[in-house]
Amino acid sequence: MTKSKFSIHSLVDLVWRGLRGTARMIRVAIPRLYGLALLLFICWLTFLSIRYLVRSLLVPTQTPEQIVGIPRRMEPELLATERADWKAITAAETPRVPPAHYHRVDSWIEPDRFNDCSRSGCHGPLPHSKNKAVRAFLNMHATSIHCGVCHMATDDHPLKMTWYDLDTGAAQAPPAILRLCQRLTEINREDTEASALKEQHRELVALIQRTSKDLPNASALEQLVEHFEAVRPGSKAYQRLLDETQTIIPRYFRGEYGAKLALKAEDGVPILAHPDTSDDVAKFLAQGDDLAPEQRDQLLEKIHPLRRDSAYRCTECHSADASLVPLSQLGYPTARIDALSDPIVFEMIENIDAGRPFEMPQFITPKSDN
Ligand code: HEC
Ligand code: HEC
Repeated sequence: MTKSKFSIHSLVDLVWRGLRGTARMIRVAIPRLYGLALLLFICWLTFLSIRYLVRSLLVPTQTPEQIVGIPRRMEPELLATERADWKAITAAETPRVPPAHYHRVDSWIEPDRFNDCSRSGCHGPLPHSKNKAVRAFLNMHATSIHCGVCHMATDDHPLKMTWYDLDTGAAQAPPAILRLCQRLTEINREDTEASALKEQHRELVALIQRTSKDLPNASALEQLVEHFEAVRPGSKAYQRLLDETQTIIPRYFRGEYGAKLALKAEDGVPILAHPDTSDDVAKFLAQGDDLAPEQRDQLLEKIHPLRRDSAYRCTECHSADASLVPLSQLGYPTARIDALSDPIVFEMIENIDAGRPFEMPQFITPKSDN
């Protein structure tokens, strides 16, 4: 009985001492392990920073893709790419266009894969180069107007025109951005009636969403939708957002509609090519350089059966009355029609192009006494 009492007692004592010993060991080990880990961590950091220093001094750094990942020229091959292929375009809030050829470099021009003039490999998407005075203007038009509008013969006045979808080549209604712009100018800022404001808010969000669907990667528009959803219609923040929207939206004009204008055939289909010319185009591309000048000209004539002798002058479209382009029927907002129809700027460019003397407006030149 005593024997077993003793052995239980000593067993408990043994276990107790064992536990105390282990606890002491853990207490001593924790700071040491901590110290060791800290030492290793500091060594690792030192190694990383020295490696970074040596690398940055010895290895030349590459310019980031976000800066250089942009096509240099608007060549026909670009038509085969998606804009998401170009990092510099997706990285920026307002995407940039290829820098060469075209002065406005703050937004993206969408490749037109249904334009047979450039899809064939014959013409570049921004084809004008001969006439310095107007080439940038003409190339700008080529981003939102099919070549045929200016270059194909027709007796219609005004021209019969339609928008066509750049993803399918089919005729479509005017782009949502034009309706959005018109809607923005019609907004009555004095309106305070809750249900009218709610309706206005809903309509704007829907139109911005549709516009941003037409323009993939237009992240500024997606953000705009988020901001609209976060503000109360009629509040000060809402008014500020309306101002902001009125500034942002026109930045997407000119070549960023997700659609382009073309002449329209009797059946309503856009005219995007000279008919039945694919064999001659192939022949020209294969042998064009080897042909004698007259044969070459004959073949070019056959490739362009609908061609006008000369393209239209600026003021045939940019005029307040009798414009060739039925702007309001094509869905252009009133303010934009006014800007496109006021002939002052367009007449001036036409005059410069025709080599007539360019006179500085009187209010700019200093008054002379004699
Ligand atoms: C806004 C009307 C307009 C559009 C759109 C347009 N052009 Fe032109 N194009 C002109 C005018 C005007 C000229 C004559 C320029 C001059 O020499 O004064 C011209 C000239 C040309 C020339 C002669 C060479 C040169 O460098 O000027 C070619 C080739 C040409 N256009 C092809 C095209 C192609 C291809 C497209 C479509 C991708 C196109 N054009 C779209 C108006 C237009
Ligand atoms: C076939 C008709 C047509 C001809 C010819 C034409 N334009 Fe245009 N132009 C338009 C249309 C349509 C627009 C609007 C395009 C858009 O919505 O992107 C436009 C837009 C413009 C703009 C942009 C205005 C802005 O505020 O965005 C300028 C500048 C311009 N044209 C100048 C000219 C000059 C200069 C010429 C002659 C060298 C010319 N246009 C010939 C139809 C034409």
